[in-house]
Amino acid sequence: MKKVPFSYDKLKNIVSEFPTPFYIYDEKAIRENVKNLKKAFSWNNCYHEYFAIKSNPNPYILKIFKEEGCGVDCSSKVELMLAHKCGFSDKDIMFTSNVTTSEEYALAKKLGAIINLDDTAHINFLNNCTGIPETICCRLNLGEDIMYEDKVTINFKNSKFGSTKEQIYDAFRKLQKLGVKHFGIHAQFGCHKRDANYFGDNSHKVFQYVVDLYRNTGIRVDFINLAGGIGIPFLPENSPADIEAISSCIKKAYDETIVKAGLNPISLFTELGIYMTGPYGYFVSSVLHVKKTYKSFIGLDASTNSFMSPARYNNYYHVSVMGKENKECNHVYDITGALCEDRDRFAIDRPLPYIEEGNILVFHDAGAYTYSHSYNFNGKLRAAELLLCTDGTVKMIRRAETADDYFATLIF
Ligand SMILES: Cc1ncc(COP(=O)(O)O)c(C=O)c1O
Repeated sequence: MKKVPFSYDKLKNIVSEFPTPFYIYDEKAIRENVKNLKKAFSWNNCYHEYFAIKSNPNPYILKIFKEEGCGVDCSSKVELMLAHKCGFSDKDIMFTSNVTTSEEYALAKKLGAIINLDDTAHINFLNNCTGIPETICCRLNLGEDIMYEDKVTINFKNSKFGSTKEQIYDAFRKLQKLGVKHFGIHAQFGCHKRDANYFGDNSHKVFQYVVDLYRNTGIRVDFINLAGGIGIPFLPENSPADIEAISSCIKKAYDETIVKAGLNPISLFTELGIYMTGPYGYFVSSVLHVKKTYKSFIGLDASTNSFMSPARYNNYYHVSVMGKENKECNHVYDITGALCEDRDRFAIDRPLPYIEEGNILVFHDAGAYTYSHSYNFNGKLRAAELLLCTDGTVKMIRRAETADDYFATLIF
């Protein structure tokens, strides 16, 4: 059974101070998870996690990661600015962008970030914008189908990301001539999987490429960034990813390739997003109306503009009806918002306990790609964000949007 990190009484107190809808993040759980991740990868001396800002771009969250010794992964100018404002600099920023502007490269270079070239054809562009930094990374497109349980999970040949194996050989030779001293390879093959063997098998391919790269160019990389993609258990019956097992499968692959080829040590990096905050965030909303037609609809005081993942990706998000957690799920509801879009549903045909107006609903696993995906369709405003601090207090870490915010960009 999925649990929430607050009692119903505590939540009622929180709601009396901060009206629904809001996100609330569990600081203690986020910190514990980082510690476990770092412990699991401690076999690699310079292992570093660059938290993917795109998944949860709140300064308080970023500061937690900073305090826990993580860096950040940025993909745009504004994310770079946010990282800088939160005190990140130099090699604690990974700039993994694509279709990058000269302004973005210039800012990344100014902050001393590690620039991760999505397209090796950008070398001249980067050189003209800012000059070539001493440390650089290239994003590898493995150029093959990545399979899981007999299904293609990534069709790399169709992917817009990264450069081919051969393009990176040439790029590294060119970059070396241009003065690069430290090289890295980035490869994102994770796609929300929790199976340790998936990570072992695919990191083996990346490590083998690094060995081939050395044999072809004589260039030894300093770091390998395995990027993101460790998944979380959305369904109550799913078990969480076993990070120790994932790390030990990656270590086995590392030993069989990097160590065997005499290239040890190479630093391993990750830029995880959903694994870092997903399970530790909750979306809280109150029931405004109950409607019965051919189906029973629960109308919330929030719409999927502020939490769009259930509607757009049809993802299952577990719901707790607060105060009724132990009641029988003997009613079937669609949980909706107020958008003029029929797909505006947080849950469809969901068996739940009997729900009345005023009940408070908590959606689990809402800590990543939730607020950051929210939008303003129908003039609906974004929700607030709260932090459940380690000492049990609650603070608002982003206020709810107001109509003034909506009108701020309009010209009359
Ligand atoms: C380049 C890059 N790095 C890291 C991440 C984080 O991925 P995840 O949240 O699946 O861990 C993403 C997600 O889109 C990404 O595109």
